[in-house]
Amino acid sequence: MMLGEESQSANYWKKCGDLALANGIEHVVMMGAHWAVLGDGIEVSGNPKPEKSPVAYVKPEKYESYALNPDLQMSSRVCDMLKSSGFKASINEKFDWIHDTYLILIRMFPSGSPPTTIISMNARYDPHYHMKVGSCLRPLRSEKVLFIGSGGAVHNLYRNKWAPMILYRDNFGFAAPPEAWALDFRQEFKNALIGRDDGEMKGRTGGPELRRRVTALMKLPGYRDAQATDDHMMSSMFVSGLCGAWEDVGILGELGAEDWELTNMCNAQFTLGQWSIGNLSNQF
Ligand SMILES: [Fe+2]
Repeated sequence: MMLGEESQSANYWKKCGDLALANGIEHVVMMGAHWAVLGDGIEVSGNPKPEKSPVAYVKPEKYESYALNPDLQMSSRVCDMLKSSGFKASINEKFDWIHDTYLILIRMFPSGSPPTTIISMNARYDPHYHMKVGSCLRPLRSEKVLFIGSGGAVHNLYRNKWAPMILYRDNFGFAAPPEAWALDFRQEFKNALIGRDDGEMKGRTGGPELRRRVTALMKLPGYRDAQATDDHMMSSMFVSGLCGAWEDVGILGELGAEDWELTNMCNAQFTLGQWSIGNLSNQF
């Protein structure tokens, strides 16, 4: 699958990782798309020696030997911040890391990742709840913390075309273009994350309007076609909270890479905010 193969996105993650290190990032805090907690709680990774959950269609030698670097101190700080904002948050000392997070770290930081904290989703998948998780951790953006949301712009496994993968192990092979419902939602997602391509706000995003646009994605008529389940949308809600205060109005946003996989699955890579060393490019 894409996370294990060479792709534009993998190259972009490497570039993002290089920039993060050049800018002195000391912590990574991530929300993925595969760890959800039942009930009304949320959890933070606190396993001092996490294993890696296996991933389908990716050869284990691509990830087995990579050393995970759990950030127990930051995890407990994140947990405390969530609690003081009213979340029923707790540390999970047994959680093993999943491919939605560790495969990205491997691509970004092949020589070893900065200490990393993973935050779960809540399995009720309330967009505003996950936006609020981001907003309450937003103060950490002024420290040497890199936030990553790992999900999918268009992600409906039931509507993917699996034949090239099953027959030829070719996740990027497709016999027809992506279907209209997938292209339409991809455009909605891009407009929500980084705004429109025209006008004076081109390339600019952030602020409460970002939060409104991103949380509204789940109310669009085409949403359920594009996302059969809600799990791969939550990290974008998290990011909208992180970058959605009034002080964030006008921050840079870029779509840095995009790979369509299994015909109808859009894996789009966005960066919001700006580094002091290294610029964004707005390629699309
Ligand atoms: Fe996934």
